[in-house]
Amino acid sequence: MASSVIDFLLSRASAPIHELKEPAPSEAELRTILTAASRVPDHGRLVPWRFIIYRGEARHRVGELLAELAERREGPLGEGRRQQELTRFARAPMVIGVVSCPKDSPKIPQWEMLLSGGMAAHSLALAANALGYGTNLITNWYSDVPEGRAILGLEPHERVVGFVHVGSYAGTPLERPRPDLAGLVSDYSGPKDS
Ligand SMILES: Cc1cc2nc3c(=O)[nH]c(=O)nc-3n(C[C@H](O)[C@H](O)[C@H](O)COP(=O)(O)O)c2cc1C
Repeated sequence: MASSVIDFLLSRASAPIHELKEPAPSEAELRTILTAASRVPDHGRLVPWRFIIYRGEARHRVGELLAELAERREGPLGEGRRQQELTRFARAPMVIGVVSCPKDSPKIPQWEMLLSGGMAAHSLALAANALGYGTNLITNWYSDVPEGRAILGLEPHERVVGFVHVGSYAGTPLERPRPDLAGLVSDYSGPKDS
């Protein structure tokens, strides 16, 4: 058992979004995925994140609103650019937004709350992968724009951790170079000289 979990983690990779197809996770599977995503380190038990599900017709509505916003920001869009926005959330059968919702706390800094959200997003993707689905987490331009976040259903004080695209995936992800541990790991040798 242990070695299969390690093999799973050592081969984790994102799937290309345009190769994520129907079917999306069932309701029972979605519940399992979100339950796993909620079981993450959370300093102070603040639950500083939430999930938004985009599926069915809602994905197309998001695309229409993003195309309108892009047009307001950039001027008239060419047909290709317009299609790009219209289909943003419709490429995969399901998109799960992981939203960071910072809470008031005299003790826990907000960056820790954001990190907890990142862990939730990663656990969410791993849980979907463990159930056999492909995933890909992206943020993209609309996550960095207040009007974009509003379109996607966020409150002004909230931030996007990631939009995890989920679907059935029959391919094999292209392997990309992974970091060389040699440059990342050291034994502690005392404080840095100031
Ligand atoms: C917070 C965050 C935001 C990301 N946003 C994007 C994005 O907007 N567009 C994109 O192509 N990849 C984005 N990525 C990268 C992909 O999630 C993915 O990691 C990358 O394609 C490499 O694939 P891998 O998961 O197989 O390592 C983002 C990653 C993180 C952690």
